[in-house]
Amino acid sequence: MQIKILSKDEIYQDINNRIVKLVKDKPNAVLGFATGQSPVGVYQLLVDSFNKKLISFKDVTSFNLDEYYPIEDSNPQGFRYLMNHNLFNNVDIDKSRTNFPSIDNYQQYDQLIANAGGIDFQILGIGSNGHIAFNEPGTSFDSLTHLVKLADSTIKDNSRFFSDISKVPTQAITMGLKTIMQTKEIVLIATGKNKAPVIKQLIENAASINVPASVLKTHPNVTIYLDADAASLLC
Ligand code: F6R
Repeated sequence: MQIKILSKDEIYQDINNRIVKLVKDKPNAVLGFATGQSPVGVYQLLVDSFNKKLISFKDVTSFNLDEYYPIEDSNPQGFRYLMNHNLFNNVDIDKSRTNFPSIDNYQQYDQLIANAGGIDFQILGIGSNGHIAFNEPGTSFDSLTHLVKLADSTIKDNSRFFSDISKVPTQAITMGLKTIMQTKEIVLIATGKNKAPVIKQLIENAASINVPASVLKTHPNVTIYLDADAASLLC
């Protein structure tokens, strides 16, 4: 794992530049997107890059990491809704090639990814409990896309996006840890002091299913992007 400690703006710019270059070299690249707060700044820069004609998503295919279950398409906290709002509505991506795991397709989701040639570049955030996508602590490193019950800490963390904690769905469909590990290139973004304890565990301890993100320690091409707050507890 390569670790980069930068300002938030530098993190977003660096990842934007990597995606612009990747899609220039491979216009039909397969991109893996995350929701949550961490990648929003990257999506804003990708929209800017598109407006400056530095990137076209015309031939790109995308796979999102996860989606709540159940969730209405019209719910503004739904991940498809958020991706449309933050990125897809503002660039030239073909929405029929934007994929989200659902109750209907999750048993085929890994095969759909394989059929598309595999994910070239995956963006990840990390939960304060160490989850990546919605692989909560205790998830097998061999997991494929599956239905999960969200951890109480995740429901609490994500209640900031909902009017009331009782409105947060208690289940989700998520890519598995093995699914994520098959991605060719991965970036993980962690910003803010609330991520500092889990980042310390991730970087300073051996891999363990108690910190699902630690599976990334054996991936050959991972960059962990931290701001000073998220890095503040590192020795
Ligand atoms: C979202 C996802 C989650 C988030 C994580 C961090 O698609 O997969 O694992 O990346 O919960 O969320 P933020 O970025 O809001 O702190």
